Amino acid sequence: MITVGQYVERISAVFDEAELFYGHGTDNGYDEAVYLVFASLDISFDDPSAYAREISPQDREIVDARVEERISKRTPVAYLVGQAWFGGMRFIADARALIPRSPLAEFIAGGCVPFVTIPPRRILDLCCGGGCIGLFAAHQFPQAKIVLADLSADALALAQENIALHKAAARVSTLQSDLFAALEGRFDLILSNPPYVPLDEMLDLPSEYRHEPALGLVSDDDGLAIPLKILREAPDYLADDGVLIMEVGYSHEQLSERLIEVPLLWLEFANGGEGVFAITRDELLRYREQFK
Ligand SMILES: C[S@@+](CC[C@H](N)C(=O)[O-])C[C@H]1O[C@@H](n2cnc3c(N)ncnc32)[C@H](O)[C@@H]1O
Repeated sequence: MITVGQYVERISAVFDEAELFYGHGTDNGYDEAVYLVFASLDISFDDPSAYAREISPQDREIVDARVEERISKRTPVAYLVGQAWFGGMRFIADARALIPRSPLAEFIAGGCVPFVTIPPRRILDLCCGGGCIGLFAAHQFPQAKIVLADLSADALALAQENIALHKAAARVSTLQSDLFAALEGRFDLILSNPPYVPLDEMLDLPSEYRHEPALGLVSDDDGLAIPLKILREAPDYLADDGVLIMEVGYSHEQLSERLIEVPLLWLEFANGGEGVFAITRDELLRYREQFK
């Protein structure tokens, strides 16, 4: 007999031995093993007594097969178990969209202060993937209407499933759009985690990332083509006192160098993460020429 706790320890050691890459919600083999075992067996992460529970041979068979796939194919755990957590909310996750991991969760959980002072009425999640950012914003701002926009029909189908999961259809809608092309009206807040990985760096990413859709990662022009286009077009879709919050991850140094005169306000995160900035509509208009 083996307990859940012992089984997690064993898998954690196997993961460490296999030198996996952790970058999709965990940063070490032990947490990855907990994620895989608990989510596979539908055990609550908040249940400390679960570690002492005996694990059945049938359950081990299910998890062992996933351990094997995690190692041999480097499939991220979120795709193996079909779910991921963002801001404490559970989302359906599969290869139709990137696995939620943006540090924006912390910012949204904090009410987007100091940029949001009155409750936003319309929020746009641009490049929404499976919809985690916009749906978490819907949860934090219960009076807001949210649009989830993405170019990928697959990602939007997943976003629809997540809207249904969170019973949010009354306030959250999806729209297929090439950035702002199909959007109408103005938003108090635009949240965006667009693709920002340069093509040549994509080829060097660990194998785990190759399970995710390339459309969600790659952007031309050193990773900056899509972020710059968003900066250029966003003021036409922001309310007068609206704010754009955008993640550019590790491309933040390149963007700062390129936009040396622009006052991008880089956010700091207690829980880790970097490369997210805020900029108001007024500033976007003032520096518009720089975004060409
Ligand atoms: C980095 S993923 C972010 C997904 C999600 N927001 C998240 O944080 O997990 C970027 C998303 O941008 C979408 N995308 C790529 N090019 C786009 C474009 N031109 N217009 C709209 N969406 C685009 C991709 O389909 C992908 O879902």
